[in-house]
Amino acid sequence: MAHVRSLFFEGPLSEVENKALTAYKLGRPSDVIWNITNRCNLLCDHCYMAADGHALPDQISDEETIELITQRGELGEPLVFLSGGEPMMRRNFWEILETAHSYGMHVTVSTNATLIDREAAKRLKANGVDWIATSLYGPPHFHDAMVGVPGTHAKVIEAIKILREEGVGVALKSAVSKDTLPFIPHIIAKAKELDAQLVYLCDLITSGRSEGEEDARVTAQQWKELADFILEDLLDPESKTEYDVGALPSVIPYLAERLKERGVDVSNGLARLEVVSACPVGKGHMNINSEGGIMPCQFAQDWTIGSIRELTLTEAVQELYKLDQQEAKGICAPEACEYSRICRGCRTKAWQATGDAMYEDDTCLLMRLKKGEGAEAAGDGGHYERMPTSAAAPCVAPGACG
Ligand SMILES: C[S@@+](CC[C@H](N)C(=O)[O-])C[C@H]1O[C@@H](n2cnc3c(N)ncnc32)[C@H](O)[C@@H]1O
Ligand code: SF4
Ligand code: SF4
Repeated sequence: MAHVRSLFFEGPLSEVENKALTAYKLGRPSDVIWNITNRCNLLCDHCYMAADGHALPDQISDEETIELITQRGELGEPLVFLSGGEPMMRRNFWEILETAHSYGMHVTVSTNATLIDREAAKRLKANGVDWIATSLYGPPHFHDAMVGVPGTHAKVIEAIKILREEGVGVALKSAVSKDTLPFIPHIIAKAKELDAQLVYLCDLITSGRSEGEEDARVTAQQWKELADFILEDLLDPESKTEYDVGALPSVIPYLAERLKERGVDVSNGLARLEVVSACPVGKGHMNINSEGGIMPCQFAQDWTIGSIRELTLTEAVQELYKLDQQEAKGICAPEACEYSRICRGCRTKAWQATGDAMYEDDTCLLMRLKKGEGAEAAGDGGHYERMPTSAAAPCVAPGACG
């Protein structure tokens, strides 16, 4: 999780990103991704939350949600993602948001956008929501099949248009799998067309309804082609699209190497990553599930370090720092990889594969490319035609993940 354009190019880092860095240095939570409910009105094929129409049995009460958001507000430097399930389905969603707003919090709502009409967009804006992160998986027939509800694509596109008209920033998110890969260029083009300023692409997480689907992940060669496409867009002076990559932190050193070859000075970006790293586990980042469980990462809902019922957020961050104080192993160890502290490898994939969060990340893009993995299945790059760019605003989004 790193904003690639903001990281490697000229210009001050956004206020929000700087606040997150300050919070980390002060030992406070930097970004908190909070699944306020597991209920959802869609039934996506791939959902790592396995969200459906049901709330989890021990979902935290409305009173507990307000206590939690108040605690977050009082800590200062606040940055929160309200996610789910579908966060706008939670009964007291607006009450949580209004409380967050009263503390001047930067809130991003991670939503499938099906519940956003003009009135909701105005209300989100009035409550200080600068960014909505919403999901798009491809053209209408594919998107609707993937989310299991016909008509969803049309609703998402309409919601994005309304949000932009109301001055709310939009990030488009997608999971990267063998199913969605052919449509990623379409999604990036759509982002530009609709003035969505950030594209967040997340490597497939194999939990929830994607459990056991490791074979559905794209090959290293396919990720390389996608990363090269992003690289060209980063270097296009007409493009302002910001990119963020989830669950594959090794894309960041890959891009840094390619940018260096193209004469870009990446030293400041890499120095920043020495502090926060491309994998945010243990860096002040945390996830809270709808039952109050505190997790190092949103992608592993069963990897908890405690509950908001027993730990304060500051105590939780201290507990999570212990992960940052340990070195990764195997190919990700400092003696094996020059990017060990900058990248760290995906700690969640290591945990999911072995139960040891410090184990090597065997999905490392650099390592798999070195081995030539996927070369035989390499595409011809035909999907990745350059799109016309739009005059999107520079990225100040806190991120799109979650
Ligand atoms: C769990 S959803 C919650 C927010 C909202 N319901 C939505 O769909 O945007 C957050 C993001 O996670 C992504 N996601 C879900 N399952 C995934 C998986 N197995 N691998 C990668 N991303 C996944 C979704 O595509 C979505 O963009
Ligand atoms: S990915 Fe989001 S919209 Fe889809 S089922 Fe999961 S929580 Fe719901
Ligand atoms: S070996 Fe590990 S730390 Fe090094 S680039 Fe690959 S994933 Fe990142």
